[in-house]
Amino acid sequence: MTIVLPRHVAIIMDGNGRWAQEQGLPRVKGHQQGVVAVQSAIEAAVQHNIEILSLFAFGQDNWKRSSNEVRSLFELLWMSLKREMPQIIKNHIQLRFIGDLSRLDQPLRTNIERTQQLTAKHTGLKLIIAINYSGRWDIVNAARTLVQKVQQGEQAGSVTHEQFAEQLALSDLPDPDLLIRTSGEQRISNFMLWQFAYTEFYFTSIYWPEFNQQTFVEALQTFSKRQRRFGLESSAS
Ligand code: FPP
Repeated sequence: MTIVLPRHVAIIMDGNGRWAQEQGLPRVKGHQQGVVAVQSAIEAAVQHNIEILSLFAFGQDNWKRSSNEVRSLFELLWMSLKREMPQIIKNHIQLRFIGDLSRLDQPLRTNIERTQQLTAKHTGLKLIIAINYSGRWDIVNAARTLVQKVQQGEQAGSVTHEQFAEQLALSDLPDPDLLIRTSGEQRISNFMLWQFAYTEFYFTSIYWPEFNQQTFVEALQTFSKRQRRFGLESSAS
């Protein structure tokens, strides 16, 4: 049987806190274990020749968490970036960040920019990390740019959805084919609202720290059995 693979997989990594709580551990331990799961997801994506892997690491709503937790999350991100650089280079991974990075500390932003530049020409997996991202933010940004164009003389009535999409983050890449969300929650929590228009969703009840290559394969197998219609009629007789 030929397996139809997704080109672009997006993941909402959820359940770090609950996993830690159930083990009687502080929430930060859940996030630490979450980084191990991130490594598994990247390895699985590379192994299965996935072109693009997008991870929702920090949403704009996550600022509502305690300042301690927010600090630990950014520290973890910083440390992981530093530690994983040799692997990223060895595997020719192109690393890109999406979201409003202006709210991050300058040293982290500098590190992010350097990493993006350093890996920009890499031809392996495109790894997208969403930080301080939200789907609504992305759409509002695109709308603002188009309003400016209209003010400069472009006809508002002739703006197409393709032109709108050109202003979004990741406009140069295909939309996600598959979204994986862990922890049993079945919602998209302001992730890629526009880009998920025709995405297949895979929800699993395991917590993110328990995610491993096997879970990734299960999601791929489920995806492979889905019939994607993009508005066309069913091919079943
Ligand atoms: C959700 O669990 C997880 C997050 C908000 C953060 C995900 C971040 C990492 C795994 C660490 C660093 C990331 C990278 C890309 C290196 P939760 O805290 O919402 O869990 P809960 O719903 O059980 O409380």
